[in-house]
Amino acid sequence: MPSPGPLVIAHRGACGYLPEHTLAAKALAHGMGADFIEQDVVLTRDGVPIVLHDIFLDSTTDVARQFPGRARPDGHYHAVDFSLEEVRRLHVHERRGSGGEAVYPQRFPTAVDLFRVPTLGEELDLIAGLDHSRGRRTGLYVELKSPNRHRAAGLDLPAAVLAVLAEKGYADRPGQVFLQCFDDATLRLLRDMLATPLPLVQLIADPAWGEDSAVDFDYLRTAQGLDEVATYADAIGPWLSHIYLGQAADGSARIDPLVQRARERGLAVHPYTFRRDDLPAGIGDFDTLLDLFIGELAVDGLFTDFPDLVLDYLARRARRY
Ligand code: G3P
Ligand code: CA
Repeated sequence: MPSPGPLVIAHRGACGYLPEHTLAAKALAHGMGADFIEQDVVLTRDGVPIVLHDIFLDSTTDVARQFPGRARPDGHYHAVDFSLEEVRRLHVHERRGSGGEAVYPQRFPTAVDLFRVPTLGEELDLIAGLDHSRGRRTGLYVELKSPNRHRAAGLDLPAAVLAVLAEKGYADRPGQVFLQCFDDATLRLLRDMLATPLPLVQLIADPAWGEDSAVDFDYLRTAQGLDEVATYADAIGPWLSHIYLGQAADGSARIDPLVQRARERGLAVHPYTFRRDDLPAGIGDFDTLLDLFIGELAVDGLFTDFPDLVLDYLARRARRY
């Protein structure tokens, strides 16, 4: 680690093939040789960090069947309303939309629910165990999800995550662990008050998504905004569609200067999310997308649901040069 070229970050594991954030998807990503494996982290009611993308349990588990009547008035089953013992009873399946349909129909069948929600500690044990048995040193890429909503529920997400990292021996391995968050205040807290030595990544959302932060994401992408980010973070994690803006009339790609602007301030750039089955408009295939972001823009890392395809692309590219 790392492989030549950008860091290959297995987004929610190798979730193009197995349900996201299951231990199976993480083991597959490890076997594929991803440089880093991503953990999105939320807390249970009793404050245990679990690996789950949404702050809700609805889209990837059978919570509605097992706990009817436990949804809030907003219709969602909030993870912070369930104890770890209750979460352990849930079965995980491939992501479904609100009508029960597969979000990615080509992926693992949604009807199969063989899997469970792992705790962060369990996942780190799995990765460390595979590192031992396979002779590797795989990185962690931990996202703190909605820290402000956790605080409103009386839960301290940054402290809980750092405690697990410390318990598992990762808290002082800056070459092996990134911490990422959409909320700038949480990153500043991690850097200043909690004094973590781990590199920090400012995720940048589209304002329309309603992320749990008071930060102005449009501002963060400006020169001034990036000047500020560089005071507390080491990298940015932008949405790839804030970099590739579509096709110009002459057929060329329209590119935002964000990558260059970040680099000028010493910030690495790790965009998300590279999906073979969800390409941006105007991009015909996955290799074309990688040609743009790796071949032309030379990003420092990328989040992908298909780590094997990116590693294969990098191997083919290395043979050409
Ligand atoms: O953390 C990078 C990327 O995963 C951000 O998007 O919504 O998939 O967590 P999301
Ligand atoms: Ca994430």
